[in-house]
Amino acid sequence: MTTTTLLHIDASPRSGRSGAVVHGSHSRRLSHHFVSTWQAARPHDEVIYRDFGTAPPQAITGDWIHSAFTRAEAREPWMHEVLAESDAFIAELRRADVIVMGTPMYNYSAPATVKAWIDNIVRVGETFDMDPSLDYPYIPLLAERPRRTVLLTAHGSSGFGPGGMQAHLNFLVPGVKAALGLLGLHEVHDIAVEHAEDRGDLLDRSMTEALSGIEQLVRDLQAKVQVG
Ligand SMILES: Cc1cc2nc3c(=O)[nH]c(=O)nc-3n(C[C@H](O)[C@H](O)[C@H](O)COP(=O)(O)O)c2cc1C
Repeated sequence: MTTTTLLHIDASPRSGRSGAVVHGSHSRRLSHHFVSTWQAARPHDEVIYRDFGTAPPQAITGDWIHSAFTRAEAREPWMHEVLAESDAFIAELRRADVIVMGTPMYNYSAPATVKAWIDNIVRVGETFDMDPSLDYPYIPLLAERPRRTVLLTAHGSSGFGPGGMQAHLNFLVPGVKAALGLLGLHEVHDIAVEHAEDRGDLLDRSMTEALSGIEQLVRDLQAKVQVG
């Protein structure tokens, strides 16, 4: 069996998992369920873990932009320092076969930490390129092998899935998908737990459905990584 690398990211600032601690994070519960289910069948796979709740990615700065848009060979030592965290995020993404992200929905979109991570991984000459002579000028640089992404989201209210009453307001999943697509990561699965603010039966039912959806998704993805 070949080794698969999972990049597991949690973005909720709430530290514990729901079901394990009071006021715990629902998205952490989902991502933990994914990774533990995965590891039960494939204990030797590598897991890289990032917790943006305790260690948020730095927002990009003017120096970052200057450095990122300077050709790699022309970069001064301070520019390499400025880009060090971005380099590390990109190296993890390159290494990963499956990216599992547990994230809250904040104001219809991704939390600022997830956006900061996206701003750090979308880098010209590293993860995508541009050729103005092409009809579509963007060239993905992470398309050399399949990388599958799993977005596990938690929503206070409900109806953000396809056909739902708030589907048109879901800027979280489409926003992350658009950025990853630019890099060549087109296979994105998403599972949500909804009704976090409603609690009670509505939340319980949504959680049960999400957890069993995750178990099925793990089986499907493991069958895929088996065959390459
Ligand atoms: C700052 C903030 C913004 C939020 N915005 C939304 C929102 O736009 N839509 C929604 O359904 N819930 C929203 N919520 C509720 C969270 O999505 C919900 O509590 C979720 O469970 C948080 O994820 P976590 O349990 O992993 O921490 C928001 C919560 C906070 C704290």
